[in-house]
Amino acid sequence: LVTDNDIRFQERIDAEEKIEPRDWMPDGYRRTLVRQIAQHAHSEIVGMLPEGNWITRAPSLRRKVALLAKVQDEGGHGLYLYSAAETLGVSRDELVEQLLAGKAKYSSIFNYPTLTWADIGAIGWLVDGAAIMNQVPLCRCSYGPYARAMIRVCREESFHQRQGYELMLALANGTAEQKRMAQDALNRWWWPSLMMFGPSDDQSAHSAQNMAWKIKRFSNDELRQRFVDATVPQAEFLGLTIPDPDLRLNAETGHYEFGAIDWSEFNEILKGNGPCNRERLEARRKAWDEGAWVREAATAHAAKRAQRHLKNVG
Ligand code: ACO
Repeated sequence: LVTDNDIRFQERIDAEEKIEPRDWMPDGYRRTLVRQIAQHAHSEIVGMLPEGNWITRAPSLRRKVALLAKVQDEGGHGLYLYSAAETLGVSRDELVEQLLAGKAKYSSIFNYPTLTWADIGAIGWLVDGAAIMNQVPLCRCSYGPYARAMIRVCREESFHQRQGYELMLALANGTAEQKRMAQDALNRWWWPSLMMFGPSDDQSAHSAQNMAWKIKRFSNDELRQRFVDATVPQAEFLGLTIPDPDLRLNAETGHYEFGAIDWSEFNEILKGNGPCNRERLEARRKAWDEGAWVREAATAHAAKRAQRHLKNVG
């Protein structure tokens, strides 16, 4: 049933007006935004784990500082995004509870292990590269708080991508063993990075409606193609080989054609059966439990300050 409100809402979207928290919006718009923003927030928080794993083993002080800053940025992104979701009427506690109960999704990519230091380079280059490709258009998302949060997130992601590529460059130009590590990391992270963009367009349940609402500006397949086109020359510059025998440049279209993605691997991860799904949730639960005293202390401190403020005002 299409109401006058729905029609007016779509007109505002078509006119590129931003929708703000107190504006009328269809329930479906609110629901899909809560879903997407929450999944995005969880991805940032869970995404701290694979890289956090290497902070103590970074090979130099400079690398350690960059990695620490990057992982900390991701924590910050998660917090902005939970706040953006809260403007839609859900609480952060509710969202965290869903994550810890294993009911919420987060990006498939964070269920793979980081086996060597080169994985830190591959994640920065490929995973953050894919994230930028997907997230820059979200800066123009129709929902104001999400769009605005994405501006800073994308600037920081861009730094992450560069530190990853620079790390890969150092390895690729290093010893034969370092170059081999870089190639091995590319072999393991390439296909999962392509899966980050989500199911192909004909399988993507939410794409059509979300594009009409201008939450998404480009389809999953369009963004995946852009990522491949941008990344293949970067791999060539590194002197590394993309692990896809079917990859070739179509001179007519100017785009790279690539081999079939193994969607059964993707679907297994979404069901919770990826290599690290259990470990990741376990780590988040442990952090939540062990951080309880910090939350309690911060709440008590805030209450004391508020009381003191009241006394002073009174
Ligand atoms: N990992 C886990 N789940 C995924 C992934 C993925 N890579 N891609 C799609 N899905 C899920 C969707 O969330 C959806 O699940 P749901 O219906 O249970 O909620 C289902 O698969 C079907 O997918 P789509 O219909 O294509 O879903 P949607 O239109 O939301 O598009 C996309 C998926 C592209 C990930 C979109 O939600 C998006 O742009 N999100 C914001 C970016 C983001 O979350 N990035 C996280 C990784 S980047 C980072 O954190 C560094």
